[in-house]
Amino acid sequence: QSNASISISNTDLVISRHIYGQFAEHLGRGIYDGFWVDKNLPVQKQDRIRLDVVNALKKIKIPNLRWPGGCFADEYHWRDGIGPRTQRPKMVNTNWGGVTEDNSFGTHEFLALCKLLGCEPYIAGNVGSGTVEEMSKWIEYLNSNSSSTIAQLRKQNGHSEPYKVSFWGVGNESWGCGGEMTANFYADQYRRYAAYARNYPGTPLKKIASGANSDDYNWTEVCMKNIPNHTMWGLSLHYYTLPTGNWNKKGSATSFSEKEYFNTMVNCLKMEELVTKHSAIMDKYDPNKKVALVVDEWGIWTDPEPNTNPGFLYQQNSLRDALIAATTLNIFNNHCDRVKMAELAQTVNVLQALILTDKTKMLLTPTYHIFDMYKVHQDAKYLAVKLQAPDYNVDGKSIPAVNVSASQDATGKIHISLVNLDLNKSVSVSTQLKQIQWAAVSGQILTSANITDINTFQQPSKLQIHNFTGAKKDGDNLSVTIPPKSVVMLELK
Ligand code: AHR
Repeated sequence: QSNASISISNTDLVISRHIYGQFAEHLGRGIYDGFWVDKNLPVQKQDRIRLDVVNALKKIKIPNLRWPGGCFADEYHWRDGIGPRTQRPKMVNTNWGGVTEDNSFGTHEFLALCKLLGCEPYIAGNVGSGTVEEMSKWIEYLNSNSSSTIAQLRKQNGHSEPYKVSFWGVGNESWGCGGEMTANFYADQYRRYAAYARNYPGTPLKKIASGANSDDYNWTEVCMKNIPNHTMWGLSLHYYTLPTGNWNKKGSATSFSEKEYFNTMVNCLKMEELVTKHSAIMDKYDPNKKVALVVDEWGIWTDPEPNTNPGFLYQQNSLRDALIAATTLNIFNNHCDRVKMAELAQTVNVLQALILTDKTKMLLTPTYHIFDMYKVHQDAKYLAVKLQAPDYNVDGKSIPAVNVSASQDATGKIHISLVNLDLNKSVSVSTQLKQIQWAAVSGQILTSANITDINTFQQPSKLQIHNFTGAKKDGDNLSVTIPPKSVVMLELK
């Protein structure tokens, strides 16, 4: 066992619920066979939307859903996905597995899904292979209540009221699959596309520029410098945690050594450096922090499960993934002055999924349980935490064993989320909470015997949230013992 201490202080900041957003692309079994299933599949559905999946996501209060990509967004032509389904054109999904896309899940289906989920839609428009007119008309189709032909078309297609979509991505990964652009070229394109991305009455658009890949700080610099900041609600950032750091051999989702686990966590913790450095560049051009940093793709990316289509990015989800999710969400909470939105990639059956499905079966992954535990931070007042943590050492390298974030909700309850990354040692954390009135502490924990443990369709509840009894109040002092490889959420009231 080793020792840590924390001290907590008040701030005026709020942890935006939109940090807890999700991403669903036309990729593998995410939309098709995930959310949108065969009409003959014997599960409860509305239209072809699977309701057990919807209900599970409602429970964790997902605040937004990003769609239709990803790389798919810059080849997607929205007009193919409206009108009678039998008449919609088919295309080949060239990015993901070369499968036929029948466009049966389009604009109206996505917005019906968001309505069922009770979340805000976040649509990524096509800049790479689409025109300014195409993007402009999509927004008009969605949000205009006028008698224009395009607004009337939405009404003919069954939705008389405007959809009021406000989160709007102007392209995706424009430095790569979204058009192979340079930063300067993209910044100019953004200005052009954004100029015709109109606000309709009652729905000011929150336009989000396609941002940097990982540590491409020049991209952020050029966008902040060349795009008038008031035309941009947010600027995005994409960063994936690769176990090995090597895109050609990323590492297994379920079989890894302590050394590989440690290196994965080193890569995960890089998010702290990325957010800090991108924010510092944004501060130069936007000292009042009006433009949000939107981490709209993050999560662990491993090799796909054996015997699955490699283009489908289907991977299992272990306790390691839960520690990655919890650590990353702590980082975002602690940077909530600048990070106002983020989306985990990618909700169902793709990458670091919350939910896996197999025909009629569905399971909740360890990552799902972290979003369940952490939902208490959504829209809560941010509390700043100073932490003194021991190191976790492997092979002569070290990382902080513990990370933490805290908030106070509207009813006055305080929530502290603590992660112990050390596989072998528990950590005893003590804190004096003098300024805060509290009478009792309770908690929840997610852990398991092995870091490689997963939920399977045979054993779907191997990892689940349990009550935690390792926290004690002694006068003003709170002392907690966090077991190895665990995530603890404390509630003080
Ligand atoms: O999430 C999978 C892919 O990763 C997305 O399509 C793309 O934006 C990123 O490279």
